[in-house]
Amino acid sequence: MTNDNRYHWKHKDLLDVTQLSLPDVQHLLDIAAGFQEINLRPVKKVPTLKGKTVVLFFVENSTRTKTSFDVAGKRLSADTYSLAKTGSSLNKGESLKDTGLTLQAMGPDVVVIRHPSSGAAEFLAERLSCGVVNAGDGWHAHPTQALLDAFTLRQAWNNDFAGKTLLILGDIAHSRVARSNVHLLNMLGVHVRLCAPRTLLPAGVDHWQADVYDDLDAAVRDVDAVMALRLQLERQQAGLLPDLSEYSRRYCLTARHLSLARPEVGVLHPGPLNRGLEISDEVADGPHSLVLKQVASGVSTRMAVLYLLATRNEGGLSA
Ligand code: NCD
Repeated sequence: MTNDNRYHWKHKDLLDVTQLSLPDVQHLLDIAAGFQEINLRPVKKVPTLKGKTVVLFFVENSTRTKTSFDVAGKRLSADTYSLAKTGSSLNKGESLKDTGLTLQAMGPDVVVIRHPSSGAAEFLAERLSCGVVNAGDGWHAHPTQALLDAFTLRQAWNNDFAGKTLLILGDIAHSRVARSNVHLLNMLGVHVRLCAPRTLLPAGVDHWQADVYDDLDAAVRDVDAVMALRLQLERQQAGLLPDLSEYSRRYCLTARHLSLARPEVGVLHPGPLNRGLEISDEVADGPHSLVLKQVASGVSTRMAVLYLLATRNEGGLSA
């Protein structure tokens, strides 16, 4: 599917976008574009991963990520199995290592893991011989979210990232989505701005490749896209935000803010949305919203990830 015959996907696991080169990203997005066409057919299934097994091991809540990995696997004819914390022996005190080795003994080709601890996916990847995909580990990384966001933007921007500016708005300190996106967007040539109250900016943000604002009107001016983030109250220490209504007054993305951006500005949000807190209804449901396109992109992008990891040693399978 790539035009370059010398290209070879070499990764056993997908743990973070920082492990990927630009050719890796372009190859993955090209494959996702091919799979997107399957998702538009009346019969949305191809035999590409028939006989392959994908385990979805989600130790943290998820709607979009888990369902889209499941749909992605099934559309490629892989068998997919789900394991959650509730209902698994993790609730009886089994360690992550023992649960991982138990899953591996059943011979899966790929294990997709979401876990509240940063580093959990890497810990499993070092111990399992099958492919491991990080579907979000603590505050650390969420590589498939960044890839599906890039896929969404690539289509919105006709494959031209150069010179574009994207604003990431909201709870950046607690966001694995922001960390993965800042890295990937920079790799693709996008200028990144960040906007949040000081208490929701991460320590060391001055070393991130991004311009930092605390005033939303200034931050949104002339941007090509805004990515609003959920206020992740479950990860915050008490006292970071003394008043939620003050937060929404200053940082909730409204149609007035979009009028300061470029006319064709796109709005992204990884979901779930806190409507009225970080994003207004008029923006979430308005003509600039790419939120449901992101969900559809998630299926195509995760099909590409499962395909690349599950066929890594086969070279001959066609997508
Ligand atoms: C994000 C996550 O879980 O990191 N959501 C997602 O994967 N679609 C962001 C969030 O929870 O706010």
